[in-house]
Parts: sequence; C-alpha cells; structure tokens
Amino acid sequence: MSARVLPVRGAAPYDVVVGHDLADRLPAVLGESVQRVAFLYDGTLGELAQPVVDSLSVRYDVLALGLPPGEAGKDVSVVADCWEALGAAGFTRSDAVVTFGGGATTDLGGFVAATWLRGVRVVHLPTTLLGMVDAAVGGKTGINTGAGKNLVGAFHEPAGVLCDLDLLRTLPRAELVAGLGEVVKCGFVADPAILDLVESGDPADLTADSPVLRELVERAITVKIDVVVDDLRETGGAQGHPGREVLNYGHTMGHAIERASGYAVRHGEAVAIGCVYVAEVARRAGSLDDAVAERHRTAFGRVGLPTTWSGATFEELHDAMRVDKKSRGSQLRFVVLDDLARPRILAGPSEDVLRAAYETMTGAQR
Ligand code: GLY
Repeated sequence: MSARVLPVRGAAPYDVVVGHDLADRLPAVLGESVQRVAFLYDGTLGELAQPVVDSLSVRYDVLALGLPPGEAGKDVSVVADCWEALGAAGFTRSDAVVTFGGGATTDLGGFVAATWLRGVRVVHLPTTLLGMVDAAVGGKTGINTGAGKNLVGAFHEPAGVLCDLDLLRTLPRAELVAGLGEVVKCGFVADPAILDLVESGDPADLTADSPVLRELVERAITVKIDVVVDDLRETGGAQGHPGREVLNYGHTMGHAIERASGYAVRHGEAVAIGCVYVAEVARRAGSLDDAVAERHRTAFGRVGLPTTWSGATFEELHDAMRVDKKSRGSQLRFVVLDDLARPRILAGPSEDVLRAAYETMTGAQR
C-alpha cells in the first residue's frame, strides 16, 4: 500500500507521511540547503539506526549522537552535550537535525533543534507508536526538571515527520501497547471510530504490518493535526473547545503517576489510567454518564493497558498535579468529557470528587 501523506497546514506547513520503507524520502524533506545533519538517536537503537546513518552519509556530513533513552535522557546536561557537539562540528543555520527514537528522543532532539542558533530545521523519524501518534507531530519540544515533566521547552515545528511502520516491527510489545494509550485517548476526545476499531478486533492482531494498526495511526495523527492546526500554541479553542489542551486528556493525573513512579509507569500506560481517572471525576461531578465512564475501562483494558493504579497516596498525586503545566495558580484544571468527542475544561473540581475518583482509580471502591 502506498504511503499516506497527511498535511499540517499553518504558518510553516509540513507533511506527516505514514507508510512503509520511508527512509529514502529523507533528503527531499531535508531540502537542498542542508550540508550537515546532526542525527540524534536513541543510543539503544544503534543497529536500527545504522542503515539511516549510512544512507544520510552518502549526501551529508553526519554527526551521529546517541542519546540516553527514555525520560531520564531529557535532561539539561544531555542538551548541553549536544550543543557542545554541534558547536565543535560547526553547525550553521542551514544545517539540520534528524531525530530517530521514541517520544523522549523527539522531545529532546526537537529541543536541541529549537535552541541551536535559535532554531534549525528538524525532521522526526519516530520509532515508537507513541512517537508517531503524539510526540513527533505538532512542534512541542522539551526536557524535564526535578519539579516535573516537560517544564522547559519550546514550540518548534518540524520540517517533516516520517512514520515508517516498519520500525515498529522490533518495538517491544509493551511499548506498542503503551502507544495505544494515546490512540485510544484520541478516540474518546475526537474520533470514536477509533474506539469501534479497537473494540471490534483482536488486539493481538495490532502489529506493525496490520492494516488496522495503520488506520489507527492515521486516525490518531489526523486528530492531532486538526487540533494543532487550530491552536498550535495552546492558547485555547473556539466555542468552548479546549483547543490543543484537549490532547492532554488524562495527562494531569497521568503525568503525576509517571513522576510518582519514578517514570517506571510508561507514558501511555499512565495516560490510560489518567483517562479512566478523569472520566470518573467527570462522572462524579455529574457531567458524564456511567456508560461512557465505564467504556474508558473497557477500551483501554481491551488493548492491554492498565486502568487502575495504587502506587502513591492521594496527597502525593494531588501535589504532583499542582505543578502540572495546565494548572493555573492553585486551581487544578482537567480536560473532561460531557460525552464522546465533547471535551471541555473543568476548573477547580472539589477535593471530595478528586478523592473519590482516586479511590476508584486504586481499585478500592467503584
Ligand atoms: N502531547 C500533547 C501535545 O502535543 O499538545
């Protein structure tokens, strides 16, 4: 099947391409002016990355920098090492960064590209499902601090994104399943056909070569593109829609869980638990009916994601949620649903509601 091109319109338009065997498209996406390419890759993926480095080396001076994997790598010291390496290699404004890895690599590599000389071209080659459907699209880049996730960052849109489904063949199953957390989230906030697809098929069939997985990837990316085109900088949507903030459905609690677990809970797993939690908040606040709240448990559970978590106290998670970027002053804000694909912001829900939803999340009470 030929590659599908999903255009991202806006001030700096670019394409997200979904398909197989896409590495040959890289020079066309990089453009004519580029002489040097900084290839910032997840250092554990050397074997997978080597063919891409070899083919880039035919046309460009390639500086390949292996990055520490995962959230632990999204540290300012790693960014500083990259800046030093770019400086030593004489990187100019007409050179480019290519990232190769999961969401953490995209965030980190994108941040290096956003900050070097106040911004150079970057092309993302995500190697995980999570990277494809979320991190690589929409121009958010960032690193972590002791206080929380992605608290330092910049908006820096890529020149292109190549989602080569072949790269998912070697992705551990648990990582693929974690990526489905963001996909199912898109089903709840914008495209319920995603829910029908995951509920009607056999989850074991969702593999790199499956047409259903490909459709899920394309649908989730389309949800993300529609949102970022309308509200790139997350200033808010029209007619009561939360705008880009909608993509953070389930993330307020999700980020708190990731942090409280020392990032042992994968992002997509934490998002699944966080979506179940916030559906329960909405149900208890009286805006979401029982059936849609319950559907959160069944849809995320169906693809093998966790829907309960009891690794931290309510107080710990509540404190962690307060430093979430979505908070305003001391007031917690959540994206909630009134129904499928009907999101809105709920600001300052009562502590009773939050605590009761937490009890449900831990499995202590239904
Ligand atoms: N991952 C959420 C966003 O890109 O806005």
